[in-house]
Amino acid sequence: MSILPKSSCNVLCSIVFGKRYEYDDDTVCTFVRIFFDVFHSQFDNFVSQLIIFAPKLIYIYPFSQSYKRLKKAFKDFAEITNKVFNEHEETFDKEHPKDFIDAFLKNMKEGSDKNFDIEHLRMYLRDILEGGIVTTTDTINWSLIFLLHYPEIQTKIREEIRQIVGPSGSVKISHKDDMPYTKAFIEETMRFATATPLGFQHKTNKDAEINRYFIPKGTMVTPNIWAVHNDPKYFEEPEKFKPERFIDEKGNFVKSEYVIPFSVGPRRCVGEHIARMEIFIFLVSMIQKFEILPDPESKIPCLDDGFVGATFVSCPYKLIFQKI
Ligand code: HEM
Repeated sequence: MSILPKSSCNVLCSIVFGKRYEYDDDTVCTFVRIFFDVFHSQFDNFVSQLIIFAPKLIYIYPFSQSYKRLKKAFKDFAEITNKVFNEHEETFDKEHPKDFIDAFLKNMKEGSDKNFDIEHLRMYLRDILEGGIVTTTDTINWSLIFLLHYPEIQTKIREEIRQIVGPSGSVKISHKDDMPYTKAFIEETMRFATATPLGFQHKTNKDAEINRYFIPKGTMVTPNIWAVHNDPKYFEEPEKFKPERFIDEKGNFVKSEYVIPFSVGPRRCVGEHIARMEIFIFLVSMIQKFEILPDPESKIPCLDDGFVGATFVSCPYKLIFQKI
């Protein structure tokens, strides 16, 4: 199993559990296995969407098999989180909460809000890890594929890194504003390889009207983020990978309000800032230290050679990291 998803998992583990894990640790391997099995399976994802509309399908083969797999994944998840909760209970110090779980336990023990209970905590952890590991890893994966296709883009980013961070300096998030081309590359990656093409489903909790369309209370709404990202009204030649579309004539980065990988509105992704930081730091560190080259024994996936589970996933590929 590649270390990329495990590193991404560790970023979130340090925030919520207060620690990172070694790459061969059971906890991190199980999290990655659970979320990648669930998110990257086209059939299981199809079933998890379908049972929202037709719940009785879970009793019928082959949907029943898929439902069993989902249930098993979440049982495994509950087992690990129970272990982590017990460890936190043992070391809990209300004066010095050291991570997300401690902060939550503090509120729970104070008892002022009944929404702070173990089941809610478990759901928060599931949302954060489920929402954060696969999406970020998939985005970084696609960015590596684009670097393989366009070595000249890789060279341009490396030049910017040399100027701003230096050949061996350690990259900080504060460098980002001085690196317009790298920012444009990441923005184009997130537009071109839309991580969650159909976002997350929502249900209207009251009657609504948008652009003169009436949407009754209780309607399932699926946002088509992919369609926005590929609309020629907003992006010239949307089928082409062109980071330059976000650079003005003075070389500044120009943000487009139509790049919306994290969706829009009050329920947009809560992890956007963490994801943006992680993608920037991971990519810059890799390009600074390594030339990223195609493996002669493996075909580079085509730019749209992927499939949609819950996220847009690239086909498997191999690459070479050659130390600079
Ligand atoms: C490139 C990386 C990511 C992408 C493209 C992405 C995308 C999205 C999208 C499209 C939504 C749905 C918003 C909506 O329902 O309107 C969402 C929700 C969410 N994301 Fe992310 N996400 C990313 C990274 C992360 C990370 C790192 C975390 C964890 C810190 C995270 C946690 C969540 C959570 C908890 C929700 C549910 C928010 C809610 O229901 O209010 N995501 N994300």
